Amino acid sequence: MRLQGKIAVVTGGAQGLGRAISLGMAREGAKVVVADLQTNKAESVAHEARVLSAEALALEVNVASEPSVQRLAEETFKRFGAVDILVNDAGVYLRSPVVSKTEEDWDRTFNINLGGNFLCARAFVPAMRKQRSGRIISIASSIAHTGAREFADYAASKAAIIGFVKALARELGPDGITVNAICPGSANTDMPRRHRSEEEVMARLRATPLGHVLEPEDIAGSVLFLASDAASYITGQAYNVNCGTVMI
Ligand SMILES: NC(=O)c1ccc[n+]([C@@H]2O[C@H](COP(=O)([O-])OP(=O)(O)OC[C@H]3O[C@@H](n4cnc5c(N)ncnc54)[C@H](O)[C@@H]3O)[C@@H](O)[C@H]2O)c1
Repeated sequence: MRLQGKIAVVTGGAQGLGRAISLGMAREGAKVVVADLQTNKAESVAHEARVLSAEALALEVNVASEPSVQRLAEETFKRFGAVDILVNDAGVYLRSPVVSKTEEDWDRTFNINLGGNFLCARAFVPAMRKQRSGRIISIASSIAHTGAREFADYAASKAAIIGFVKALARELGPDGITVNAICPGSANTDMPRRHRSEEEVMARLRATPLGHVLEPEDIAGSVLFLASDAASYITGQAYNVNCGTVMI
């Protein structure tokens, strides 16, 4: 097991990519905090992790709220005493053309997608610094590179995550903490289904050079790699995991 005894916090852990990442961490021997707005679903993922013999805790968090993120950190330290891995997965994907996009939606996207990274870093970095080790892995998107019609706020927030990750990697390198991003292509979760029909979603998922439908577990695999000892000297990177749809 690659993460035996490590303590991992996964925001957005209640479903989709975050669920697969949480369970992947559990399979690798980590103790997992499944943190999400959706408490019941987070609790059921924590239960699945316990069935895999992992210690797991479900906590309600709104990553856009500083007091809520601070509570998440306090509860994590109370239960597990430390943190080794932070996965910033929580995100929203709101659709509207720029001219009709409300300021409220713009702010919501930025406060959750980017602000969540900032607030979680502020809450967990001091403990990682003290132990002089840590892994921060943020879920961006290949849309950060390509843009996407009617998703300008989303594209901009995900591109900003990559800049944030690079700056933080420079800031925390001397403390033995690595910071990286994964940029998934379209993956088989609820998220793309909020704005497209099932036929459209499946057609997009299949139209990749590898011809493989990207599953949450495929993204989890790359996150587990970045959390493992094999990735000790990788920092400030943004990896595309997209079956070859975007090659840069
Ligand atoms: N699915 C894809 O095709 C895809 C592609 C590229 C990037 N991503 C990114 O991967 C991440 C996960 O995507 P997914 O497909 O699993 O999405 P999803 O919508 O299935 O899950 C997102 C999770 O985040 C939680 N969440 C949302 N706002 C939150 C908040 N303020 N505080 C705490 N939790 C919150 C939700 O409750 C949900 O459980 C997101 O950051 C998304 O932008 C997804």
